Amino acid sequence: MKRTIKDLVGLKGKVVLVRVDFNVPMDEGGKILDNTRIKNVIPTIEYLTKQEARVVLLSHLGRPKSFDTKKSLYPVAIELMKRLECNVDFINAVVGSEVKKKIKNLKEGNVLLLENTRFYKEEDKCDMDFAREIASYGDIFVNDAFGSAHRKNATGFALARVLPNAIGFLMEKEIENLSLAIKEPKRPFVAILGGAKVDTKIKVIEKFIEKADCLIIGGAMAYTFMLARGEMVGMSVIEEDKIAVAKEILDKAEAQGKKILLPIDHLGVSTSDRKGKIERVDKLKGDLAGYDIGDKTVELFKKEIDGASQIFWNGPLGMFENPKFAGGTRKIAEAVANSNAFTIVGGGDTVNAINTFKVADKIDFVSTGGGASMEFIEQGSLPCIDVIQQKIR
Ligand code: ADP
Ligand code: 3PG
Ligand code: MG
Repeated sequence: MKRTIKDLVGLKGKVVLVRVDFNVPMDEGGKILDNTRIKNVIPTIEYLTKQEARVVLLSHLGRPKSFDTKKSLYPVAIELMKRLECNVDFINAVVGSEVKKKIKNLKEGNVLLLENTRFYKEEDKCDMDFAREIASYGDIFVNDAFGSAHRKNATGFALARVLPNAIGFLMEKEIENLSLAIKEPKRPFVAILGGAKVDTKIKVIEKFIEKADCLIIGGAMAYTFMLARGEMVGMSVIEEDKIAVAKEILDKAEAQGKKILLPIDHLGVSTSDRKGKIERVDKLKGDLAGYDIGDKTVELFKKEIDGASQIFWNGPLGMFENPKFAGGTRKIAEAVANSNAFTIVGGGDTVNAINTFKVADKIDFVSTGGGASMEFIEQGSLPCIDVIQQKIR
């Protein structure tokens, strides 16, 4: 068992550095489209502020290469101000003398949110000097960022190596619920995998074959697999250098007698037509890019969903943020919600989808983690959890 914030004593006046996952879906104008990841971390923040700790929050947002005002966490600070009774402050940096000064002046029971940690290349490189610099501003490290606990980064992983540490309530709940689901999965266990992060999720899919009885692959993820099967994908999003891995996965699944379902029809958008004409097609020929799954695919996928005893779903089946391409994801969300299976749905954007389609309350466990919940189900733990101290019994 990992140490939790309940095990921490003498928090009054201490600077507690809390890594959270505020990588929330946001539109171009900085409007937060789904605040689940913010809402779910509030109990941890409130617990610490009630203990009169001085709370400093750290998170990444998106995948910026350097400073990028479009990826600022400022909108999240505004959301926190609405949700918390204490004072919430924001600073547009993570390290430096200004940050140091702000933390020094931070009053007991108040909160300071730092800027996007990915504005610094040191974050994803897990740079120890960067982590030591941040650690020097605080007394204790708390990790409540389940959604990014699969990333060996500076502010989730390295900070735990240099400061006394614990996990927060969100992390504790995720571990508890996901562990239950993976110990003895109810069979048939159907995994629905979609979304856009083919590059980092594909390696996990390979291991998922052993856990699940059937893999349903949709969303942008599907086209790399379709190409590996020699099918037409037109101008859809693909990852050229992952085609070989996709082929290996398909071969492995076949050898093990596991089912992998791919889309059989699509909503294709003409990339040469300026108006972006939409066509319902079985084959993505020429200049068409697939933005959603078609009705035949929905029926094919629904059959497996209806026969499942346990379902794990990460990754939207299309570009559902645009109502024109929301149909596939909505119908699959409804099928998952209405199934009698034990259902787990995870991922920043996938949770946005189940909230948009108003089915979240019919899901047995909603995880804040996408890639993280996939890796947790596959390995039983994650690097940023492993590095936290054990509870002293
Ligand atoms: P999650 O956050 O749930 O883990 P991802 O971040 O992997 O999911 O992917 C979510 C994104 O995938 C959504 O924003 C959605 O628009 C996009 N997406 C899904 N299908 C397609 C597609 N066919 N073409 C382009 N983007 C897609
Ligand atoms: C997520 O949204 O899955 C997490 O915040 C991790 O984001 P990343 O895949 O960009 O590391
Ligand atoms: Mg996402």
